[in-house]
Amino acid sequence: MSPTQPPPKLLTSLPAYQTLQSIYTTQKSTPTLTLRSLFDKDPQRFEKLSRAYESTYGPPTQLLVDLSKNLINDDVLEALLQLAKEAGVEEQRDRMFAGEHINTSEDRAVLHTALRNFGDSPSLAPTSNEAGVSEVQEVLSHMEKFTEQIRSGEWKGFTGKPITAIVNIGIGGSDLGPSMVVNALTPYTQRSLRAFFVSNIDGTHIAETLRECDAETTLFVIASKTFTTQETMENAGTAKAWFIAAAASKLSDAKKAEDAVSKHFVAVSTNTSSVTQFGISPSNMFPFWDWVGGRYSLWSSIGLSIALMVGYPNFRQLLEGAHGMDLHFKQTKLEDNIPILLGLLGVWYGDFWGAQSVAVLPYDQYMSRFAEYFQQADMESNGKSVTRGGERVNYQTGPILWGASGTNGQHSFYQLLHQGTKLVPADFLAPCTSHNAPRADDPTLHHRILLSNFFAQTEALAFGKSEVEVREELGIKEGSGDTQKEALVKSKVFEGNRPSTSVMFPLMTPATLGALISMYEHKIFTQGVVWGVNSFDQMGVELGKVLAKNILKQLGKPEDVKGHDSSTAGLIHYYQKFRKE
Ligand code: F6P
Repeated sequence: MSPTQPPPKLLTSLPAYQTLQSIYTTQKSTPTLTLRSLFDKDPQRFEKLSRAYESTYGPPTQLLVDLSKNLINDDVLEALLQLAKEAGVEEQRDRMFAGEHINTSEDRAVLHTALRNFGDSPSLAPTSNEAGVSEVQEVLSHMEKFTEQIRSGEWKGFTGKPITAIVNIGIGGSDLGPSMVVNALTPYTQRSLRAFFVSNIDGTHIAETLRECDAETTLFVIASKTFTTQETMENAGTAKAWFIAAAASKLSDAKKAEDAVSKHFVAVSTNTSSVTQFGISPSNMFPFWDWVGGRYSLWSSIGLSIALMVGYPNFRQLLEGAHGMDLHFKQTKLEDNIPILLGLLGVWYGDFWGAQSVAVLPYDQYMSRFAEYFQQADMESNGKSVTRGGERVNYQTGPILWGASGTNGQHSFYQLLHQGTKLVPADFLAPCTSHNAPRADDPTLHHRILLSNFFAQTEALAFGKSEVEVREELGIKEGSGDTQKEALVKSKVFEGNRPSTSVMFPLMTPATLGALISMYEHKIFTQGVVWGVNSFDQMGVELGKVLAKNILKQLGKPEDVKGHDSSTAGLIHYYQKFRKE
């Protein structure tokens, strides 16, 4: 731990925690935090509790974040803001931007914000002289030049044809960011280029992808921070072998086929020697640095596939949008600081209301991979049970994050959101305008229907439908004596009081997406600080990796299977009995 950084205090030891606990306990016995009464009492609730974000940098970007349908009143908000102060959110935030080694277990700075630190805002510039920060612009220029060559067709494959397919091979942060963003920004992609993302070690993933590709016109982007990740290295090796075989059959010269690799393989990594060893020359490598965490890396050269698909100017706008939100996070006072408010609400629900999960529900088909992306960002960051100081926590930390795009989820899991026994705070996101108008006779029809559902769901969750309303609707008086009808009444009641946050924006643009991702990154950061955990390591993924390596060596013969419990040994033996070579 750096000497300037004191060990964090346990959340439960903070005075504001006690305040919140007593508010929660009081309201449990005499419910004061009911959305119906809160809205009835205060006609200005929406105005008071929604925050409008306008970018001060880059393309004009707006977000409306409506917090009013959350289970909060002035007292809760005040105590939550006090909690942020006591936990040192602002101090830790400033340490991050300054480049202090806040990733204490790995002794690293956390500077993904420096990858998008355009403009001349000295308050966002790292002061730590971290190696690589001064090279960010140079790498961006390389990315710009390369993406233009590919997209214009100037860059030719080994038979002189332009590239038409990009295959990104990576996993975790080296896959989810690029694939989510390319999906979200589909309207901005060059339609003559197709993008594929191969991540899983399951051979089906690479096999099905290669079936879609032609070696003469395919570019493989091998994306791995460490360039040692088993899945990525195996998939990359398979792609290379496939490519060389295809090239050799065209060129009838093995040497020329090997040389052709340089026209079809590029690498994105921090590990130059392993890239070179794999057979990719440093001139085809786009570096980044150890102060960029995998799940925060889409802003670095890991975003190469994004830039290839949407063009460098749009990639740059994505970064600018994120930078605008960085400025907001760094410079806005606590009570208007959107990421901090979102983070505190999550703490309120997780640590006081006992919510185990949060749902992310974008009403935009292009954002269908948003929840999947934030599963890694959130759960790999805050799924920890010891603090930065090594103390076991005695409270809940990171939630289970899940979700799907609307309206699909409505016909699947929303039943539980509305009437189940679990509290699931949900974020609803929607653009005011769609990129698509599929009906000539009524161009906005689909979007109007989509958004009517978006508005209806948060209304239904918050206010529900009371027994009185149900009885009135069904014409069944209280005490009707008909057990079947009475059961029907009960099953049609919606208790309501289920919290949600709505996030709206004019249109899904690169800058808007950048701002949204950055907003959630800083929300996760805020929560990590309140919980006192290191949001920037991922020790929890290691054990499984080590065990798998050992098991791989034992899969050959039953007598090799040693050192396992009876369940694991039994499963391996079953596999050995039924596998086909
Ligand atoms: O799952 C662990 C992890 O280290 C992630 O944090 C990371 O995004 C992923 O593996 C891929 O790592 P790399 O980019 O080094 O291949």
